[in-house]
Amino acid sequence: MSQTAPEGFAEALNRRDFLRLAGLAGTAGLVGAAAPAAAAPVTELQAIPFKDSLTRMEGISETTVREHWKLYQGYVTKTNELRAALAALPPDAPANATYSPVRELKVELTFALNGAKNHAIYFDHLGGRGGRPSGALLRLIERDFGSYEQWQNDLQRSGLAARGWAWLVYDMDLQRLLNVVGDSQNTYPIWNAVPLVALDVYEHAYWLDYQTNRANYIQAFFANLDWDAVQARAERFRVV
Ligand SMILES: [Fe+2]
Repeated sequence: MSQTAPEGFAEALNRRDFLRLAGLAGTAGLVGAAAPAAAAPVTELQAIPFKDSLTRMEGISETTVREHWKLYQGYVTKTNELRAALAALPPDAPANATYSPVRELKVELTFALNGAKNHAIYFDHLGGRGGRPSGALLRLIERDFGSYEQWQNDLQRSGLAARGWAWLVYDMDLQRLLNVVGDSQNTYPIWNAVPLVALDVYEHAYWLDYQTNRANYIQAFFANLDWDAVQARAERFRVV
């Protein structure tokens, strides 16, 4: 897993000009979440609070969770370093598509920031009791996948087919739910899609507990999902 630090840039912290990512407002794990149009720019990313229920899950050990959480915190730290480094770049900083500071910082920002976002969703909606959603969210899943069981089977198979993540997203252009895959933190984004469920299938998420048996880990993931958290996320982004 790449978490390369922009050596030499970290000292040049300049929070004055942190990226004006107004579109980030309202995203899990970001400080100052509010209506995007009027909100002040997010000045620094912070990890979401650690829930005690994450240490009491069936099938996903406390050791795995605590080690995994360290990686999440690393993504948050590197996001802030990268944003500071980008803000500190001089206007004439070398920009080249093979290698340049501008390219490397911008590419790694997508890795770090998406890594932080993915894990914020993951840890926010674990520590629950599994089961299934209800109400409008369940009806949306049934409309777009046929049944809850068909959705679950498709996400499980997506997780087996992916090298990093599988997500349930709501595509605002297609106006429907999709299960999509990613091979890394920053592949393969779909614009205007809201991630509702984030299934981490990197080996670090399950190796200690399951070794190569990813399928059993995914079953444990479903058994510990907190559908209230998924519902809250769907409501926050007006999916339901
Ligand atoms: Fe992870």
